[in-house]
Amino acid sequence: MPEPKDTEVLIRVHASACGPGDYKLARGDMAPFFRMKFPSPMGFDVSGVVVKVGQKCSRIKVGDSAYANTAFTLGTYSEYAICPEAHVALKPESIDHVTAACIPVSGLSAIQGLRDYAKLKPGQKILIIGGTGGVGSYAVQIAKAMGAYVAATASQPELVLGLGADEAINYREQDIGEVLKGQDYDVVFDCVGGAEYWNAAQKFLKKDGVYVTLVGDAPNKPLGVGVVVTTLKAMVGRKLGAMLGRNPTYSNVMVNAAAAKDLVELREYVDSGKVRVLLDPSAPFTLETVYDMFEKMQTNHVKGKLRLKVRDD
Ligand SMILES: NC(=O)c1ccc[n+]([C@@H]2O[C@H](COP(=O)([O-])OP(=O)(O)OC[C@H]3O[C@@H](n4cnc5c(N)ncnc54)[C@H](OP(=O)(O)O)[C@@H]3O)[C@@H](O)[C@H]2O)c1
Repeated sequence: MPEPKDTEVLIRVHASACGPGDYKLARGDMAPFFRMKFPSPMGFDVSGVVVKVGQKCSRIKVGDSAYANTAFTLGTYSEYAICPEAHVALKPESIDHVTAACIPVSGLSAIQGLRDYAKLKPGQKILIIGGTGGVGSYAVQIAKAMGAYVAATASQPELVLGLGADEAINYREQDIGEVLKGQDYDVVFDCVGGAEYWNAAQKFLKKDGVYVTLVGDAPNKPLGVGVVVTTLKAMVGRKLGAMLGRNPTYSNVMVNAAAAKDLVELREYVDSGKVRVLLDPSAPFTLETVYDMFEKMQTNHVKGKLRLKVRDD
């Protein structure tokens, strides 16, 4: 049994979840940057019951039903996981562990991206690219709750309208740049990536608007020198362009996992019914079928979140 350090808690894992970051991690994308060695523990998201707390923990107690994004403490695809207390909050009461585990990484990315990077305000117009994905499905609902006018892309428009979007664009049938051309959008929240979406946004994003991306120009490519150079070149060029007033602000999200207060806010959104967790129709995966879960994730067309059930509630 792992032993928590002073500022950590030990969680008996009931459930975890899967996002693209999980298979990218397993593929070794982040190994050079975080000095990872394989075999390595896997899994960021967790929902479960706290069974031990470190001496310096003050907020979280043994017996709490809690959820977290462990970040690089990792290891939630297992029966017990260690997590810094600063990452942990009580889970929403209205949903079970399997559903709650689908919130941390994606929900935090959405809330931080909209609030801290886009600085979204009531009445503003936002386009969310990838509106039915893990992050996008939260972003659509949170942006609505923040009082914005929300357009979103999806291959199943009815799904994103069901989340509360004001407008859905089927990116497989329509060119986003042409559909929105000439309009005045304040924010684009890009959960898909690729230079083509940045280029298309120039047709409808205000010059003083903001383009927030989770991904950058090289979606789904293993991180390497080529990808890093391309990304940095684009970033520097666009940031310089924004300083000179030539193009909208360009901003790359880096989710902060040590954000228990944001998990509290997400819990309130969920328990008040303002936000629901969109679950992919696939049945929950198990510790024995993690590779199948990664394969499903790599299709790049998951609807909402993939679940990993470890034990019954
Ligand atoms: N920077 C950070 O801190 C951070 C944090 C979290 C996630 N991320 C990254 O953000 C990205 C999104 O994460 P996620 O969990 O939302 O992924 P996801 O659940 O796989 O969702 C991806 C969505 O993209 C849509 N899509 C696929 N190809 C598309 C295209 N060509 N045009 C428009 N939409 C397309 C799919 O919609 P359809 O099914 O309708 O095709 C799918 O719903 C990933 O690359 C992830 O690694 C970064």
